Amino acid sequence: MSSRLLVVSNRLPVVIEQHGEQWCSRPGSGGLVTALTPVLRQRGGLWIGWPGTSVQKGLDLDGMLAEAGEAAGFNFAAVNLTSDERDGFYYGFSNEIVWPLFHGLHTRCNFDPSFWKAYRAVNCKFARTIKENVQENDFIWVHDYHLMHVAKELREVGLRQKISFFLHIPFPPPEIFLKMPWRFDVLEALLEFDVLGFQTQGYRRNFTQCISSVVPGLSVRGRGRVMTTKTPRRAVQIGVFPISIDFEEFADKAASEETTARAGEIREEFAGRKLMLGVDRLDYTKGIPERVKAFGDALDRYPELREKVTLVQVVVPSRTAIHEYQDLKAEIEKLVSEVNGRHTVPGWVPIHYVFRNLDRTELTAFYRTADIMSVTPLRDGMNLVAKEYCACRIENDGVLILSEFAGTAATMHRGALLVNPHDQEGMADAIFNAVMMGKKERQMRMRILRQGVRKFDVFWWLDMFLKASNEQDAELAAPPEEYDLLALLPPPSVAPPIPAHLPDPTR
Ligand code: ADP
Ligand code: F6P
Repeated sequence: MSSRLLVVSNRLPVVIEQHGEQWCSRPGSGGLVTALTPVLRQRGGLWIGWPGTSVQKGLDLDGMLAEAGEAAGFNFAAVNLTSDERDGFYYGFSNEIVWPLFHGLHTRCNFDPSFWKAYRAVNCKFARTIKENVQENDFIWVHDYHLMHVAKELREVGLRQKISFFLHIPFPPPEIFLKMPWRFDVLEALLEFDVLGFQTQGYRRNFTQCISSVVPGLSVRGRGRVMTTKTPRRAVQIGVFPISIDFEEFADKAASEETTARAGEIREEFAGRKLMLGVDRLDYTKGIPERVKAFGDALDRYPELREKVTLVQVVVPSRTAIHEYQDLKAEIEKLVSEVNGRHTVPGWVPIHYVFRNLDRTELTAFYRTADIMSVTPLRDGMNLVAKEYCACRIENDGVLILSEFAGTAATMHRGALLVNPHDQEGMADAIFNAVMMGKKERQMRMRILRQGVRKFDVFWWLDMFLKASNEQDAELAAPPEEYDLLALLPPPSVAPPIPAHLPDPTR
């Protein structure tokens, strides 16, 4: 496909911020940025989004973005938000309504009607910026829950080009989604896109169930298409495209001299002990308190783990203006100090807690050093850190403990130890199993995991999406090897054996 990529997301991959008198740019955090940056770097194109700040005196935003674009190898166009718009649209509707609701946590929602107005107004602003920048043959690709209304706004200003959308987070089942006061508007707005992409079959099924039950005059046909009854009749394609990472980039970085050197230092610090790693944005969906409690439980119930395993929990600050996130930070810190207070002995602190952004070398060095990685969200669209860990395990060793409720579980359940993050004892048992697992089994599992991540990387995801978008009548097949979570549930207290019908990757 030769058309230019026009990617639109709430955030640009760079964040502009002020330090004293100085304005600086830093990479944005989060899975969307990690996944899409290599795609834009490979293909070139334009990325439209919010630079994380408002226009202010002394800030040469265009100059800074041009410079950042030159370094990145593609172009940026900014959507500037006032602080009121940021509060109502980003903190409010996006992160106090859609984020908790779509993750199944409706009791955390604040359905303030003013947020909806702000959301629509800012989506309209994004649409105007797209209209100003779009070229005739562009592939317009809107991303994530902040921008579900953009196609509707673009249609209203007369844009007739194909518009595609990818949802990075889960889509909830009807009984949860229907709690949203603006449910009809949101569904109808989504159906103004031509292609809708979801991370898993389960999320797509939730969406099609919602539209079949609440939007009159719609029929869902086949496995992947929705017909609308509007005039002229148009089809909306609905597909499953599990997002991924640039495997080779992570593997190369993990093998680099600087990462190897840093990994050596970390290994020395934890010499003689197993290192278990958690890497998450500060978010209540990530299950960090539950993980810390399970780790404490494992130390309580399995004395043989004491002084043998250390948890390094890295948390990157996120959405700290929302009080739920501030409360979460306090809760994590309290739980960490409780477990440490209970088990620390001279020479061994059970949990090392890091609250900051890590650079790539530091992050990949931790991935390389960690014997066990714990990715245990209560619910997550995908959770790319699980894939990053596997890509960085260049020696084909290591254990991934993975929540059944992470999007990654749909494709990574074979090699991982699956856990229910709400089951504290089951999680503690999985930690015990991971620490005790023999090298042969660890290697076999990690090989299976790495093969999958290498094959189904972010460029495969891109090709799948573009192919599906360009072939109107293509059957939007689910990716190979996807299984329905509900069909998977293993007994939580034992490491599930590798199914016999799988090819043995060691042969
Ligand atoms: P989400 O998109 O919800 O944040 P993902 O697991 O999909 O969840 O993606 C998180 C991304 O943020 C990953 O690419 C990960 O490497 C990065 N990340 C998370 N924590 C940190 C940290 N402390 N320092 C640097 N990067 C981080
Ligand atoms: O993948 C989910 C996601 O919400 C992305 O859309 C977003 O870029 C990222 O997590 C980080 O969140 P925020 O942009 O609110 O800092």
